[in-house]
Amino acid sequence: MNFSLLTKKYDVPAPRYTSYPTVPYWENSPTTTQWIHSIRKTLQTSKNPGWSLYVHIPFCESLCTFCGCNNSITRNHAVETPYVEQVLAEWAQYLKEVPELRTQPLQVLHLGGGTPTFLSPQSLKQLLTPILESTRREASFEGSVEVDPRKTTREHLELLRSLGFNRISLGVQDLDPEVQRVIHRNQTLEQTLAITQIARELGYESVNWDLIYGLPLQTLEKIERTAEATLAAKPDRIALYSFALVPWIKPQQRIFKDSDLPVGAEKRALYEKARSLLMERGGYREIGMDHFALPSDGLSQSMDSGRLHRNFMGYVDQRTDLLLGLGVSAISETPECFHQNEKVLNLYSQRTQQGEIPTHRGHLLTDEDRQAREQILKLMTQWKVEISDSNEQKVIREMLSEMITDRLVEIDGSNLRILPEGKPFLRNACMALDRRLRAKQPHARVFSQAL
Ligand SMILES: C[S@@+](CC[C@H](N)C(=O)[O-])C[C@H]1O[C@@H](n2cnc3c(N)ncnc32)[C@H](O)[C@@H]1O
Ligand code: SF4
Repeated sequence: MNFSLLTKKYDVPAPRYTSYPTVPYWENSPTTTQWIHSIRKTLQTSKNPGWSLYVHIPFCESLCTFCGCNNSITRNHAVETPYVEQVLAEWAQYLKEVPELRTQPLQVLHLGGGTPTFLSPQSLKQLLTPILESTRREASFEGSVEVDPRKTTREHLELLRSLGFNRISLGVQDLDPEVQRVIHRNQTLEQTLAITQIARELGYESVNWDLIYGLPLQTLEKIERTAEATLAAKPDRIALYSFALVPWIKPQQRIFKDSDLPVGAEKRALYEKARSLLMERGGYREIGMDHFALPSDGLSQSMDSGRLHRNFMGYVDQRTDLLLGLGVSAISETPECFHQNEKVLNLYSQRTQQGEIPTHRGHLLTDEDRQAREQILKLMTQWKVEISDSNEQKVIREMLSEMITDRLVEIDGSNLRILPEGKPFLRNACMALDRRLRAKQPHARVFSQAL
């Protein structure tokens, strides 16, 4: 079957599976006491040493119209100090409740957003010093930060490097001026190259560029030029995200005209164009659904050793049983529980100031959830998975019957494998393993399109 027909059939709403169960299916929220208990138990019993910390900085000075992140737009930098104090109050609460956070090694610290470099170097120092002083780190520690090259200075990168940060991710999206105009993000190649260069001079081990395919007005020629410029800069990693169009959640995306948006086979062709240039000319390897890395990069090595992992931060090269999220809307996970902080900044501020852990919602995983979570994770990271339960095998075979006929997936005994032509439809295959989705289809639109 040709690709256009396949996209007609399979370009349906599908989760991105950065968690299982996916957020719209969370129920049975833990109380804060249960959540604390789950963290303590994880740190006391985990066979995987160490834990990960994610700190969310929601602020951006201007809104990019494509953006799907949890952010708060302001030019008023007076918000910095109160926010830093609130995150530190939340951290202090965790230290009081979970003393193991001081003794178990902090393996990964990731600053995400919004825009972490909205904070001045002084504010970042004020935020990070108490956290780093109260935790233990080993030589394998990874500190990573997402930066907007338009809002990042040498001083930011020097400060973070001096605190042990060794990885950096730059938001680039697309270099074409017309695309940039419609996504409200004017960013010159020079700005991006300058930050890349400074990061290298300062000794950051891994530099990532975030690109997106499927943006309004993007064409094959435009994405080719963006890919060529990326190849010339040779970042260690590239995330080439599928544009997630979710106007019912992000109303600013309504300004895009349907006729300007590449969809289906046209959208996928943009990915394929960039993919072939990056792999054939740049020597990059394709990691999971939408990432590329040089063979020397940790992400590439983790794929070879079977350590590649996927969580709310996307594909990562280290798996720890605890991922603790601090800051407004931040999501945390343990093997048995998901937990999300208050999503509204005012509520987050109030609750942290009152000395509370700002629980908004979460999900206590059942045994079935845990099985499905591991299976989906395997398929998302290794393109294959073994389904040992015979009843489950039967259901999945039936669910995937059309994909089997279309030679997109293969089931051999208990082994399910994505075939090369099936790679664009990985999210569709995962839906067959998603027991909660199988049991209950969503009533309203919640997921972006599979392609
Ligand atoms: C928090 S931002 C990165 C840091 C900084 N705010 C910036 O934009 O430079 C995280 C990344 O998510 C990706 N992203 C945001 N909205 C998206 C969407 N609707 N579809 C696909 N990717 C998206 C972008 O590539 C962006 O660089
Ligand atoms: S893409 Fe980055 S800078 Fe733009 S609005 Fe989203 S989080 Fe802010």
